[in-house]
Amino acid sequence: MCGIVGYVGTKKAYPILINGLTALEYRGYDSAGIASMENGKICVMKDKGRVSNLNNIPGLNDLTGTIGIAHTRWATHGMPSKENSHPHMDNSETFAVVHNGIIENYNELKAFLSDNGYHFLSQTDTEVIPNLIHYYFSKETSDNKFLAAVQKATADLKGSFAIEVLSNLYPDKMIVVRKDSPLVIGKGSEGFHIASDIPALLEYTRDFYLLNDYEYTVIENSSIKFYDKNLVEHEKEIKNIEWAASAAEKNGFDDYMLKEIHEQPTAIRETIGSRLKLGEACNFSDINISKEYLSTINKIFIVACGTAMHAGLTGKKFIENLCNIPVEVDVASEFRYRNPIVNEKSLCIFISQSGETADTIAALKLCREKGAKTLAVSNVIGSSITREADYTIYTHAGPEIAVASTKAYTSQVVLLGILAVYFAEILESVDTETINNIKKDILELPSKIETSLKTADQMKELAKKIYTEKDMFFIGRGVDYNVALEGSLKLKEISYIHSEAYASGELKHGPIALIEKGITVISILTDEALVEKSISNIQEVITRGAKTIIITNLDLSNAGFENVVKVEETNPLLSPILSVIPLQLLSYYISKEKGLDVDKPRNLAKSVTVE
Ligand code: F6R
Repeated sequence: MCGIVGYVGTKKAYPILINGLTALEYRGYDSAGIASMENGKICVMKDKGRVSNLNNIPGLNDLTGTIGIAHTRWATHGMPSKENSHPHMDNSETFAVVHNGIIENYNELKAFLSDNGYHFLSQTDTEVIPNLIHYYFSKETSDNKFLAAVQKATADLKGSFAIEVLSNLYPDKMIVVRKDSPLVIGKGSEGFHIASDIPALLEYTRDFYLLNDYEYTVIENSSIKFYDKNLVEHEKEIKNIEWAASAAEKNGFDDYMLKEIHEQPTAIRETIGSRLKLGEACNFSDINISKEYLSTINKIFIVACGTAMHAGLTGKKFIENLCNIPVEVDVASEFRYRNPIVNEKSLCIFISQSGETADTIAALKLCREKGAKTLAVSNVIGSSITREADYTIYTHAGPEIAVASTKAYTSQVVLLGILAVYFAEILESVDTETINNIKKDILELPSKIETSLKTADQMKELAKKIYTEKDMFFIGRGVDYNVALEGSLKLKEISYIHSEAYASGELKHGPIALIEKGITVISILTDEALVEKSISNIQEVITRGAKTIIITNLDLSNAGFENVVKVEETNPLLSPILSVIPLQLLSYYISKEKGLDVDKPRNLAKSVTVE
């Protein structure tokens, strides 16, 4: 978590830094700070609270430096406070550092530095970094002292970091380096821009350097130099990223989440792209998996966290149904510690919107060590996970800024569906008619999503009726259960209402004891094959006094239910993409009714780069 920004150029740095922090606030928002190089001296301004609070710090508008670093924090070590905010300086105030990530051995390093006369002003793990740099700098004799000291200090760090370093002794220079935490450098017309993600910089440039782990970068005026782990200099390719700058703006919507919910038809259209066409084999020429290899696979693992894991649950249904290969789905934080039975006959798929989720990346590395091939599904070009995986396929949802994931989820489900069709074509595991029908259904999704979006007014009205509730239930069977899980997660994270999701058939095994008069039970009902059983489950909760909301593509007009929300029919495997949308809207409107910050829910951050 945490977002970092930097600038080295010809313009005043501080407005650019604050602008960048505002774009990155989704990554953390309990404290913020900047350091600007003012006439050869580092000037730090920081405090707890949102980025906008920085504008209240006296003297901010007087800063004129053209090189600076900045940080927005999501507290891990130490409460939100001015002392714990970044940038942090060493005791001699020669070096200033902003950091995203976690230094796992900071206690050890703190003890070492304390023994060497250093003291600490904050409870953070970060403060060891500028002091370690100072320690090595004071002992360094090489010509390139600054860089050598940063390299030695970072070599001592265990854990993850993306850091930017300034020094009073080198007022025109900034050094940046990362390990397992994101960092990109954009080359703009008026300087170099550094940030934790690409969307924060889209208004300045589309040309980016995507840094590898331990790739030390020294930026000085208009020059940029890259060095490897041993400080051997090398050339680096610049990548042009196609995202439009407007993709990272609200474009007239009140919140990013609402905008992103409405972007789903486009996100799905872009994700389908040229991969799937009627009458042609699916196009995955970028990964080109062979029949020989795929035929050796006896199990597929899908590993992810949160919403991405929910997309994986539907991916499992696709692959098992179309390819006849057993699939296990697991949350990354469990999977990596359970000694999973993975070997060279396993294909391991990792889903991560950000491509930076620490547990998912660690799980991928584990599978690679066990000899399996790894495939990443990500939305962020060049993100860490894509650099670790054997194969990568991208969702093209565009930047997702709201903390609660919406368009990334539906894009992930679609891409997994297309991947399953591709595997089925390679393996010839289902007949052509089934393949053609599902392709047709996938291609119709963007227009059918428009119908789901039309439920917005109905969901707004329902939100007004139920936003004061304390508990809710979501139930469903098969893929509808996957949607229940996702609907319940969305509600929890942005409305702070407690909710539980159950497979409808499980209700009788315990949870039904919680159903009492007036409680809301939201039921997802799209699979015709399971309709009778699901209706019985709904009747059971109504009998016990529950109010129901039913999301369905079936004709329930004769069943006498209240609050029926209709979405379009599609292949049962694809229905989560249509039925989740009213639930995204319901959570959104409940959060608005409660007057909460939809895009930045408490305690959460978009990119979970800590374990
Ligand atoms: C919920 C949400 C999270 C993420 C999870 C994984 O709305 O966004 O549950 O899905 O933190 O993040 P990624 O996909 O970036 O690995």
